[in-house]
Parts: sequence; C-alpha cells; structure tokens
Amino acid sequence: ALRSVVVGCGSALPAKVVTNAELAERVDTSDEWIVQRTGITRRHIAAPDETTSTLGAKAARAALDDAGLSGADIDLVICATSTPDHTFPSTATQIQAALGIEQGAAFDLQAVCAGFVFAVSTADRFLTTGGARRALVIGAETFSRILDWEDRTTCVLFGDGAGAIVLEAREGTGTSDDRGVLSASLRSDGRHRDKLYVDGGPGSTGTTGHLRMQGKEVFRFAVGSVTDVIRDAFEKAGFEAADLDWFVPHQANRRIIEASADKLGIPRDRVVLTVDRHGNTSAASIPLALDTARKDGRIEDGDLVMIEAIGGGFSWGAALIRW
Ligand code: ACO
Repeated sequence: ALRSVVVGCGSALPAKVVTNAELAERVDTSDEWIVQRTGITRRHIAAPDETTSTLGAKAARAALDDAGLSGADIDLVICATSTPDHTFPSTATQIQAALGIEQGAAFDLQAVCAGFVFAVSTADRFLTTGGARRALVIGAETFSRILDWEDRTTCVLFGDGAGAIVLEAREGTGTSDDRGVLSASLRSDGRHRDKLYVDGGPGSTGTTGHLRMQGKEVFRFAVGSVTDVIRDAFEKAGFEAADLDWFVPHQANRRIIEASADKLGIPRDRVVLTVDRHGNTSAASIPLALDTARKDGRIEDGDLVMIEAIGGGFSWGAALIRW
C-alpha cells in the first residue's frame, strides 16, 4: 500500500516583528493581559510588498531544498489559506509559477485555521491512490490584512507567516510501523458561522472585510470538540496518547493548547508551542511549528506526530503522521 511520507519541510516569516508593547501604543491593551490570556509575546507582520503567495513560495522553496528536490519533482501543490492575494487565481497557482513548476495540478483549500490538516489529508488521498507522486502542502497567511486594528479583542491574537511540507508516495507495508500519514479525522459544522467569520467578501459587502470573533465561544468549542477528532485519528491508526512523540496543535493560544493536551493526557513536554513567538498564523501555524521542531532537533525520523486544528466554520481535524 502507498503511504504519503514527509520528505522535507520549510517555513517563512516576515522580517518585521511587532511586540505586545508596540500594540499597546495603538489599542488599549497591555503585555501583561496578552501574555496571561494567550501566551503571545510577539508576532511577525508582513511588509507591504509581502503577500500570502510570496511567503508561501519562500516556505515551499525551503521545503524543496530540505527534501533535496526541485520544482520539476512536484506534481501537486495545495495551499491552505483564507487570505489569498486575490479572489482568483488561486494562491497555489501563483506559488506553482514562482517555483517554475509547469506540470501537475495546484489549488487552494479553505478551512481557515484547520486548513493545513485538511490539506494534508487531501494530499494523502491523491498520493495513496496514485493521483500524484509528490505534493507540496503549504499553509500561508497574512491575517494582518483582515484584522480590525482598532479592535483590541482580535488584533492582538494574530500574525503572518507560511510553512510547507513535501509529501512523497512511497510503498509501505500497510502496518502502523510505516512512515507517513497514518490516519486523519475531519469535521465541519456550519451552524457556528457567527462565532468566527470575516464580515466582507464578494457576496456581501464587496470589500475584503475584517475578522470578527466571539472569543469565549470559540474557546469553549475548541477545547470541547478538538479532542474528539484526535481520539478518532489515534483509534483509526491503532495508537493512543501515550505512544505520541510530539503533539503539534494549531497555535491559537497557549490556554487552548494546554487544556487540550491535559484532557488527552499528553505531557506538556511533548507539546510543540510556538504561539508565543508567532501568534496565531491560522493555516500556517502547524507547518511553522513542525518546521521549528524539526530544525531544532525535536522531531526525528520515525517519530509519531499528531497535528490538530480548529477554525472558522467551524471546521476541525487531526492527522497522525509518522515522520
Ligand atoms: N487587552 C486588554 N483587555 C482586553 C483585550 C485586550 N487585548 N481584549 C479583551 N479585553 C477585555 C475585554 O473587553 C473584557 O473586558 P470587560 O470584562 O470589561 O468586558 C475582558 O478583557 C475579558 O474579556 P474576555 O473576552 O472575557 O476574555 P477571555 O478571558 O475570554 O480572553 C480571548 C479572550 C483570549 C480572546 C479568549 O476568549 C480566547 O482565547 N478565545 C479563543 C480565541 C481564539 O483563539 N480564536 C482563534 C481560534 S480559531 C482560529 O484560529 C481562527
């Protein structure tokens, strides 16, 4: 049976860093409030000439370098994003062109903060059914462009960035000892629209709009539901929390992450946390965290890694990967 094996990863962050103290000069907030409620101390913000596709292309190039591959080796590009450069063409096709890839297919996938998990699961279906041989799976965002910078309840939470992995179809034994994506569990429930949404778009105001959020409602739902898809992903692959080497959750805030890990019985020292430095980068947060933990030597070949996320919709999911 074919498996989708991770053969490289990379990431990209804008050079500009904005600290909590700098935000406190713009809105009525404080470093103390932001750190205590979210764990965030700083975030990267895109320069005017940086976009989701330029950040995504940089991360994708780094992932290809890490894999020792070039654009000619890729026949599928999936970019998870909610902040595309344009309504169309897709960000994925722009990244494809920037990398000089002229073969295969490229498309965007929109599941907000859960986008990267949905994209990994989607790419896995292509690779394990012979629909593609090597995929670039990218999460890239510039949420700074959809924030209401006057709204202290949301503007302090987010940052910009991109991350990418290369997945390659390889023959496995079909057992849980195989490297690659071992299982995934995806869910959506559109009844929760009003808790987290953007108040613009072509079909409403005709403008890009701003992110709106009922923070407490999102918090409650996140801690309550994300553990279900994680348990499902463990069960499908025949593993449990005690087997896990690394828990790499969507980086929305430290309290959601720690509450979820505690509920699952995952020790805190197995949790990869980057929200302190990156803020919430939506679909980019998991590949940014994966790349951080891979490059600092935490994630090693053969490690069992659980990724999970919840975002607007709501949409949420988890995937178990043997690196
Ligand atoms: N600085 C100072 N005070 C603030 C700020 C701020 N930046 N933001 C809100 N406050 C105030 C509020 O106005 C409120 O004041 P009041 O009591 O006088 O009305 C007080 O702080 C408490 O506000 P709450 O919203 O009750 O604070 P809470 O403890 O719920 O924390 C937070 C807010 C951090 C947003 C929390 O609800 C949360 O983490 N929610 C999840 C949000 C999230 O992570 N969303 C993204 C996930 S999905 C995705 O990634 C797209």
